[in-house]
Amino acid sequence: MRSLIDILELSAAEIAELVATAEDIIANPSKYAEACHGKKLATLFFEPSTRTRLSFEAAMYELGGQVLGFSEAASSSASKGESVSDTVKVVSCYADIIAMRHPKEGAPLVASMKADVPVINAGDGGHNHPTQTLADLLTIWREKGRFEDLTIGLCGDLKFGRTVHSLIAAMSRYARVKFVLISPEELKLPSYVKKDILQKKGIPYTQTTDLESVMPELDVLYMTRVQRERFFNEDEYVRLKDSYILTPEKLKTAKASLSILHPLPRVNEISVAIDDDPRACYFKQALNGKYMRMALILKLLGVEV
Ligand code: NCD
Repeated sequence: MRSLIDILELSAAEIAELVATAEDIIANPSKYAEACHGKKLATLFFEPSTRTRLSFEAAMYELGGQVLGFSEAASSSASKGESVSDTVKVVSCYADIIAMRHPKEGAPLVASMKADVPVINAGDGGHNHPTQTLADLLTIWREKGRFEDLTIGLCGDLKFGRTVHSLIAAMSRYARVKFVLISPEELKLPSYVKKDILQKKGIPYTQTTDLESVMPELDVLYMTRVQRERFFNEDEYVRLKDSYILTPEKLKTAKASLSILHPLPRVNEISVAIDDDPRACYFKQALNGKYMRMALILKLLGVEV
């Protein structure tokens, strides 16, 4: 039995397989409509979510399966003091697979060690978010047709942005990928990601506080929200929240082939004036997340179609 806690648990070959399955689902949805008939997905969300939870649920429904779960810690027995380990032991009796989001780093890993069914990490604190990365990867694949030879700008809250950490891990396996890390001083990429991934593998990267100066070199621009819920101090959040606002003006020097991604929710980081620009991919990215979650559920449940 296999869980998915960290994106690097999937080999590059397995990522390619998931992308191929997602492409097949997009082309032939009816082929998959009963694939998970009789199976149940439990969504255990101890932290708010729109896209991730609903796309997991939509994914399971489109596979013919069913869904149960909760969407906030307050409506689960966590509010009575139940441990994550006990919760997943119990939920293992009711569901065939679990998707869990938790504010504490490492909680889904602990859950996967206790559960009798596969556990998918749907975001753990400021740490990792592997299924968002699957959505990001399918988007990059469909927009660019490749994972190699890309200069990827990551902009915003690189410190607390778990989607950034997982995406760097995933993309650092492909040849000739370069990262441009764009953030305020206070929200720089954690040194463990730099050391354990970028430096260890000798991946080229640059750091800057200035988005406009690097715009012309980017193939992908991954914008992120400043993660308010991870700040200890509201004033600090208010000071940093609008550090980067992508506007049509700032895109003037960008490549015509640039792809703009954002895991969403967006606050102010991308002006709505960009939504109709052909380079804006963030709503397609949200849809791609559903297809990749379908592919992942099939894989972890061992369902052959
Ligand atoms: C992201 C998250 O929850 O980490 N959202 C998502 O899953 N699509 C990004 C964010 O909340 O800013």
